[in-house]
Amino acid sequence: MSIVPLKQILDEAIKGDYGVGAYNVNNMEQIQGIMRAAKETKSPVILQASRGAIIYTNMVYIKYLAAAAVEESPEIPMVLHLDHGNSLQTCKQAIALGFTSVMIDGSLKEDSKTPTTFDENVEVTKSVVEYAHSLGVTVEGELGTLGGIEDGVGSGQVKLTNPDEAVRFIKLTGVDALALAIGTSHGAYKFKAKPTLAMDIISAVAAKVPATPLVMHGSSSVPHELIEIINAYGGKLEKTMGVPIESIQQAIKRGIRKINVDTDGRLAMTGAIRKYLADNPSEFDPRGYFGAAREAVYQSVRGKMIDFGTAGHAGDYKPATLEEYKKIYAGGLK
Ligand code: G3H
Ligand code: 13P
Ligand code: ZN
Repeated sequence: MSIVPLKQILDEAIKGDYGVGAYNVNNMEQIQGIMRAAKETKSPVILQASRGAIIYTNMVYIKYLAAAAVEESPEIPMVLHLDHGNSLQTCKQAIALGFTSVMIDGSLKEDSKTPTTFDENVEVTKSVVEYAHSLGVTVEGELGTLGGIEDGVGSGQVKLTNPDEAVRFIKLTGVDALALAIGTSHGAYKFKAKPTLAMDIISAVAAKVPATPLVMHGSSSVPHELIEIINAYGGKLEKTMGVPIESIQQAIKRGIRKINVDTDGRLAMTGAIRKYLADNPSEFDPRGYFGAAREAVYQSVRGKMIDFGTAGHAGDYKPATLEEYKKIYAGGLK
């Protein structure tokens, strides 16, 4: 059994100076592709489910799909994390399902669109920290807002994180990890040209709170090859650019430890399914195209595990339980 609190995986990543991808999941094939990559590269892994994913899987399926991953890969430290929780209530629901980590995105109001004030963000984040820590569960917060808007998450306005506010936010709320806004956005349409991200913000925060792992959302690289496959087989995606791997590697060097990736998995699956169906027009067994999609997710995530430096670290430490972290939080040790 090695479903662990996110705090353990990220604190270990600080010690080993590497990053860990947090991959959004909604179905069995995504989870299998990611877990195969984790096993083969011996990587700790973060599976994250959005509110949309929890609704799509009717809650109970995400719970048991994650349990299946744990049973099949006991040697892999794995986290089940709520992505962009919008209220204490949503976080409580995820924790009741067995999530070992939650994000409370207090940078936006409960509608996940309207930006909040600093004080409103502190208030909701503190309430989640108090509840989650009493159960040993990790909390990720967010300060600043990402650009872009995808699937109802995001205000469309960019507000880069102010490093001094970030340090104050961490101290006031007790969050275990903090997502910074450094110029990335969710989805496939991030940039028209190679981006310049606000890397100094990472360094400024990490210099003041080196023990707090930092998080980067909107980290898909949107590889040209995947866009080309989709368009070659009937898709219509515009030319676009994501976050280059080198930028993610620089961000890791400066203190980013959790790297959120959803879009690249979506692109990989869509391209594989389009290609499979075009190449096999008489095929109607879903295992054919879902199998191809699973393989594409595996390929994509395997590369990231190597590029982020996660590979090889699964066996570095003994997996911890929520009970152990409950005691740590109760003792005031962070
Ligand atoms: O942050 C947004 C993630 O990409 C999740 O997207 O709400 O469509 O599952 P979703
Ligand atoms: P991408 O859309 O870049 O994959 O970002 C996903 C994300 O940040 C989920 O929280
Ligand atoms: Zn996000």
